[in-house]
Amino acid sequence: EKGGYPHFMLKEIFEQPRAISDCLRGRLDVESHSVQLGGIADVLDRLVNAKRVIIAACGTSWHAGLVGEYLFEHLAKLSVEVEYASEFRYREALIDEDDVMLVVSQSGETADTLAALRTAKRHGALTLGVCNVVGSTIARDTDAGVYTHAGPEIGVASTKAFTTQVSVLAMMAIMLGQRRGTLDSEYAARLIEELDRIPDKVEKILEQKDSIKEIARLFTYAPNFLYLGRTYNFPVALEGALKLKEISYSHAEGYPAAEMKHGPIALIDDMMPVVVVAATDHTNEKMISNIEEVKARDGRIISITGEDNSEVIDLSEFYCSIPETEDCLSPLLTSIPLQLLSYYIAVNRGCDVDQPRNLAKSVTVE
Ligand code: F6R
Repeated sequence: EKGGYPHFMLKEIFEQPRAISDCLRGRLDVESHSVQLGGIADVLDRLVNAKRVIIAACGTSWHAGLVGEYLFEHLAKLSVEVEYASEFRYREALIDEDDVMLVVSQSGETADTLAALRTAKRHGALTLGVCNVVGSTIARDTDAGVYTHAGPEIGVASTKAFTTQVSVLAMMAIMLGQRRGTLDSEYAARLIEELDRIPDKVEKILEQKDSIKEIARLFTYAPNFLYLGRTYNFPVALEGALKLKEISYSHAEGYPAAEMKHGPIALIDDMMPVVVVAATDHTNEKMISNIEEVKARDGRIISITGEDNSEVIDLSEFYCSIPETEDCLSPLLTSIPLQLLSYYIAVNRGCDVDQPRNLAKSVTVE
């Protein structure tokens, strides 16, 4: 049932080109440059006219939500707040009928996410879900929603659920941008065509598995890792760090790169691997100066960067290159090498990758 792979996690990492294609199929129309999301068609007017979208989730799904925030704001000029479901539910969060509550959950059963959804519903907000498990509690309790169609995810560490959640959020953002008139048609067309090419580009990254395995070998016993990213790749840095700690039990922290100066830089020495997720956007120069700051303290730079980003590549001790893409879609690519890096480090450390200690696939206790 693992399809010849030693672990479900590796199988699910390698399934991503297909999972993303399944997620896009029948929704993304490359001919007409349009997006159809049947699951939310009935509530579309309310969503298009929303004053604000609140995205609530936990863990990896919360990281996907953060990418969603950047997408919705950038493409649809729609104000978004991303909440840890547990924090949203226990404070007196302000939400009303002009708001939309969008919950993101692979399992559709996470207790805190479900409670956040029910709170929002009581306050009259429109509730939407992005779930993977069909017929799950969250999928049933929301007013409408979009399934990720990633197929069953068995490994406790979320991989294909994350990339398909981001794919759904990207489709929603493009569609909303088109409806709200905030997205010019040429850019929309480019994004739709590019989204359609993502599965092939993920495939290309997976082909680099041996070089990532080699990086993992060299850093298997590093006790601490720092992950840095900016803009769309800040959530990817958080996700990379979470993935590493949950399956390999190595300590890792993700930060927005600029925050390094406000504390974490004190940790950097010649024992510290710093994973830099550097897409090629308008923050590239800033990332380069962050890399220089790390190198000045003998930190070890592992970068995930565009294949044309020679400045970053030249400054890196190790790198994994990603094919060129639109900046706002780059998390769909940059997250892949980080999944593999965590996987190989965990395997080298003899960890139970599919069933990490203390973790459950769906957290239905509070
Ligand atoms: C991390 C992971 C968890 C889940 C979180 C939310 O790899 O799997 O952080 O993302 O427990 O679960 P769902 O998405 O099922 O609500």
